[in-house]
Amino acid sequence: MNKFAVVAAMAAALISTTAIQAADVEVTHWWTSGGEAAAVAEFAKAFDATGNKWVDGAIAGSGDTARPIIISRILGGNPMGATQLNPGKDADDLVAAGLMVDLTDLAASEGWADFINPASQLASCTYDGRVYCVPVNLHSAQWIWINRHVYEDAGMPVPKDWFEFVATAPDLAAKGIIPLSVANGWPVQTLLADIEVAVAGVDNYVKVYQGRDVELAAGPEYTKVWEAIDAARKLVDPATLVPQWNDAVALVVQGKAGANVMGDWAQGEFAVADMKAGVDYDCLPGLGVTPVLDTGGDVFYFPKNSDPEVEKAQLVLASTLLQKDTQVAFNLRKGSLPIRQDVDLNAANDCMKKGIEILQSGANFPSNSQMMDRDSLNQIRDIYNNFFADQNVTVAEAQAQFADVIRNAPPL
Ligand code: GAL
Repeated sequence: MNKFAVVAAMAAALISTTAIQAADVEVTHWWTSGGEAAAVAEFAKAFDATGNKWVDGAIAGSGDTARPIIISRILGGNPMGATQLNPGKDADDLVAAGLMVDLTDLAASEGWADFINPASQLASCTYDGRVYCVPVNLHSAQWIWINRHVYEDAGMPVPKDWFEFVATAPDLAAKGIIPLSVANGWPVQTLLADIEVAVAGVDNYVKVYQGRDVELAAGPEYTKVWEAIDAARKLVDPATLVPQWNDAVALVVQGKAGANVMGDWAQGEFAVADMKAGVDYDCLPGLGVTPVLDTGGDVFYFPKNSDPEVEKAQLVLASTLLQKDTQVAFNLRKGSLPIRQDVDLNAANDCMKKGIEILQSGANFPSNSQMMDRDSLNQIRDIYNNFFADQNVTVAEAQAQFADVIRNAPPL
């Protein structure tokens, strides 16, 4: 190639780079299970297609492990480009300290308020009228996942709700199958809170967590809740508890356990195992007792960055996460509901359809992280885990400890 052609080629390369001036954005999250990894890859693919680069910052473990790491990095001046968190109070101090990018103008220019549904999720990203995070999905904790073949092969009826499950659990155990798989830590909290909702009802659950109704938490209606939780812990052999939530789901996928109570992110694991809802497994919202779903899920925050190219790329990422095709590709793999329903959901399976139906019926209520601070929730998690692990802890003792946390939880 002659020297003029070389100069022309170099100039073209320079112009093209200057024109799109892309950036690498490190994104932290705790999506490390099979289903979660398949889902987050869709976000990465969509962002890379903009000419920028998603630098994956997966943190092994769960939110309980990742949240402190994420928050201390931002407070410590070593921020990532973007991070997953849950909707609610977790980033309050970071926003108050002026460490997070204000997305209000982008949200207004793209009309987020017109299509994000339910509006509670954008409200959870809004502080003093300014928007600081992007809600990307709706995940709810109130589901029980049942391997149909385990019951069919055992010649037993497939349970249609929590109480039918409890009634037939001893028969399943007698056949050498773990009736209910459970993982240590926050999954015990998920199980017991789901029983709380099923037994006490959504209104009482919200009165206790959001309304801080100590009398209700300490009263006879909640004694019934703790008695149901006591029955649940008697179903579970502590030796069968597994480390991570997806290990517990795997036991159901493999037919080694009959059922698992977990949020609808469990669906991603059944999808990766090529199992079909309604054929291989059943998903019962509200544990099949009352079809209700909480408005949990995931949001993305963008810590302020000194590099203007990264700041530009952060806004591109925020916008990309809400694009219709990105929403469908991600949520179908994540097992969550899209944060916008003006999308093509023909590929939705039975479980997602059940979730959309409940969302459209309005039978949703705030997730615990939208009603209470993380420290109080962690105290309740520990009370649940202690009660579950130690049969010597009585219903009365556990209920009194629980009521104390409700009494002392700081106002919203
Ligand atoms: C939740 C998160 C879900 C799911 C789950 C288990 O906090 O909202 O997306 O990943 O943790 O890791």
